[in-house]
Amino acid sequence: MIFMKIALIGLLFFVTTQLSAQHGVVFPQPVNLEETSDKFVFNGLLTVDRQQVPAELFSYLQELFGRNFIHLEAVSGKDASIRLQPIQTLVYTEGYQLNVTGSGIEILYSNTESLRNAFQTLNQLIQNPKELSGVRIADQPAFSYRGVHLDCSRHFFTIAELKKFIDQMAKLKFNRFHWHLTDDQGWRIEIKKYPKLTEVGAWRDSTLIGHFSKQPVEWDRTRYGGFYTQQQAKELVTYAGIRGIEIIPEIEMPGHARAALAAYPELSCTEKPLPVAGTWGVFDDVFCSQEKTRSFLKDVLDEVIDIFPSSVIHIGGDECPKVNWEKCPKCKGIMSENHLSNTHELQSFFIRDIEKHVNSKGGTIIGWDEILEGGLAPNAQVMSWQGVEGGIAAAKQHHEVVMTPTSYCYFDYYQSGHPSEPLAIGGYLPLEKVYQFDPLKGLEDEYKRYILGAQANLWTEYLPTIQSVEYSAFPRLVAMAEVLWNRSQAAYPDFVEALSNYYLPGLRNDGVRFSTSFLDPKLEIQASTSGVGYQLIKPVNEVTFSVNNEIVTEINIPRTEQVQETRYLIHSNIGDQELRICDYTFTSHLALGKKVQFDTPPHEKYNHNGNLGLTDGVVGKKPWKGNEWLGFNNDTIRFTLDLETLTTFGSIRIETLNDPGSWIYRPERYEITYSTNGKKFKKAAKGKVSGDFITLRKKMKARYIRVSIYNKEVIPAGQTGAGFTPWTFINEIILSK
Ligand code: ACM
Ligand code: ZN
Repeated sequence: MIFMKIALIGLLFFVTTQLSAQHGVVFPQPVNLEETSDKFVFNGLLTVDRQQVPAELFSYLQELFGRNFIHLEAVSGKDASIRLQPIQTLVYTEGYQLNVTGSGIEILYSNTESLRNAFQTLNQLIQNPKELSGVRIADQPAFSYRGVHLDCSRHFFTIAELKKFIDQMAKLKFNRFHWHLTDDQGWRIEIKKYPKLTEVGAWRDSTLIGHFSKQPVEWDRTRYGGFYTQQQAKELVTYAGIRGIEIIPEIEMPGHARAALAAYPELSCTEKPLPVAGTWGVFDDVFCSQEKTRSFLKDVLDEVIDIFPSSVIHIGGDECPKVNWEKCPKCKGIMSENHLSNTHELQSFFIRDIEKHVNSKGGTIIGWDEILEGGLAPNAQVMSWQGVEGGIAAAKQHHEVVMTPTSYCYFDYYQSGHPSEPLAIGGYLPLEKVYQFDPLKGLEDEYKRYILGAQANLWTEYLPTIQSVEYSAFPRLVAMAEVLWNRSQAAYPDFVEALSNYYLPGLRNDGVRFSTSFLDPKLEIQASTSGVGYQLIKPVNEVTFSVNNEIVTEINIPRTEQVQETRYLIHSNIGDQELRICDYTFTSHLALGKKVQFDTPPHEKYNHNGNLGLTDGVVGKKPWKGNEWLGFNNDTIRFTLDLETLTTFGSIRIETLNDPGSWIYRPERYEITYSTNGKKFKKAAKGKVSGDFITLRKKMKARYIRVSIYNKEVIPAGQTGAGFTPWTFINEIILSK
């Protein structure tokens, strides 16, 4: 497959890659597209020769075109309006040519994949059910592996929901669905030889509520679970196959095994019964490396191989703590018998043994990049998630690689910094960053051939419903599809404009949830004599912002003597499409827009708006989502507010955060002093911080207010982050009369 492109180039391409200034109506954008002055009028009916399209593909295409109000009909003979011309000489390739002329549509193809791709393009080209503008397209993907992963363990999605998701993948010419079927929180695939995997392992008796790091922990006590029968899984394999998508099943080992161990505790080192996990993270209880456990896994894989025709089977391999292995007599025995010097080598031994079995059945294993530790199994492919380094190392060892680095491919990360974003695991991966991903970056030319492609990963700890999955997936998957198809993508603003005009309406028609947070303004603050002004910086030129139906380019918040909140609904529009409404609340007060001098500056990760960070009118909300609040990683914080003139006020209020799971602890003490000249400071108050607020009510006249906040030097033993400096977070210094 690595060589397929070479065979294709001379035969299919009529010119070298065009400069892609504009993004057209097809997603991902074809590599080569020329518009002509022709026009083909077809009045809602297109016909193909029934001999040339496999019946199952035809039914799918009929439905696909039907949703676009086009009737696709199979006819006999040569006078079909879509003329299909097989090019038998081509080796396997997904490339095709598509020409629209005054007399009809011509498709040159080499196999079912290429034919399907041509039809996907044609369906998107049709913007009007009556006629089509002339075009000459020669197209082929940059990468042979264009994947999407979905975790169905942390949350369960029905086959019907997965079919809808696969339909959307197919439109974007993705061709691999990595089905994450087993993990600590649920085993999701029926294994006939081991019925307890689904009788016991598919169900948990509780699920964590809120973020993993939140304290105190809260639980939803509803029993949660589900699984796919082998029949259902086969049905999905067929459904995806018709849409050009191969399903790669993942059976996690040796880590992420709690659901399997709940069913069969004898497969662990301790053999201790444990429930299916109801919380997220990495667990010490993993599969023991003993022969009995490996045999069990081989039996499981035998059934999995029978269900899934994919030649590649994902065996997990990530995040396997070795603490139990270190203590286990069975594991230690295997180490000494096989002259293994550490538990990394034991993991490598484990994976090699599994690989040998899968290879003997004609399959190839792929694993997360931890399978490099202790030595890569001889024929394994590597899925590089902890950055691209693992992938590069594997390529240098001549192993095939799929790139899925967290920084570009983890679609469970926040896609916007706006506080209205639904709870996510953390991180920040906006649309533009996905679009900028280059799976070949950092690779020397000789190793690029080992990079099969890349994959977006949808982990679902915080995606409980298919709607939340869709929201995280779209439109970032559109950007990923572009990255994987075309090595010379349109400029990002052109992509965004085309996406908004042509792709999002289709998603809406299909009832797919998507995010439009990529159209949010960036708010740039300036102090003014009367308060603060926020410039609304456009993410792309084509967007306009409006408030109450009036175009706005900035928002001004006046300083007030009493605390006052003002809410703005900023609408983001492209042309006459209103694509996003974003809610911003600003808090006015007497210190709004006055500068603060920090003796201890906020940590660079949690520092907004510089010396206006504590007087910008943005009051951080709870729960903390990694934005809005100013964060300090010192045990003492000191800053001085300069009101510029002598000012009379009666109240000072500063809010603090307590989020031990994130190592953020409420400070212990505070001290406030004030001054008229900035030299001599008088004590206003000092004391313990007992609740969320540091509050002082006292009539004062001053120009300067100095605040010192003290936290513990280190987090005490027994608490999260013990031994490290606690983080202190505050959100605004609010003054009023
Ligand atoms: C992973 O995210 N643990 C592969
Ligand atoms: Zn063991």
